[in-house]
Amino acid sequence: MYESFLERVLFSEEQLNERITQIAKQIESDYKGKKPLVVAILKGSVLFFSDLIRKINGDLEIDFMSISSYGSGSKSSGEVKMIKDLDKKIEGKDVIIVEDIIDSGYTMKYLKNLLQARNPSSIKICTLLDKPSRREADVTSDYVGFEVENEFVIGYGLDYDGLYRNLPFIGILKRSVYEK
Ligand code: PRP
Repeated sequence: MYESFLERVLFSEEQLNERITQIAKQIESDYKGKKPLVVAILKGSVLFFSDLIRKINGDLEIDFMSISSYGSGSKSSGEVKMIKDLDKKIEGKDVIIVEDIIDSGYTMKYLKNLLQARNPSSIKICTLLDKPSRREADVTSDYVGFEVENEFVIGYGLDYDGLYRNLPFIGILKRSVYEK
């Protein structure tokens, strides 16, 4: 069923579940006595975000932001624009930004600078996947699920041309799909 587009599974449902549970426990202990505001960056992070927050035992709030890069060509130029901002003020709050992947890092750099200027009490970054080999902007994540090589990853929120976000695992897309 998957063989028309899937090269191989990189992280299975079980592996994701296990790692996300570990991250949730770490966040739980780091934020003991606090009520962090956990921010999902649409759309890629929604599966990770919803699994992560339900594993965190303790009070927290959630909010959503949507960001877009200006086309594929300009992605590396670091130009990003806001599609949807947070609903509420974050001044004095402990913010955790949740992403599916940090690639060049431009999106996260933009987000962190933007939110930092609003005087939160703290900001931390939580990403399921990190591709350090592709980094252009100077940004590091506080919580990382897995480091990945420079491969085309899909599934569990990550898309190719709008598809495959609903796969319950992370896989590598066949070259023949994006090189045709
Ligand atoms: C992806 C991902 C990050 C960004 C990472 O989003 O969710 O937001 O790219 O890339 P960068 O580190 O090179 O900036 P995308 O723009 O594909 O939107 P989506 O989440 O809606 O798929």
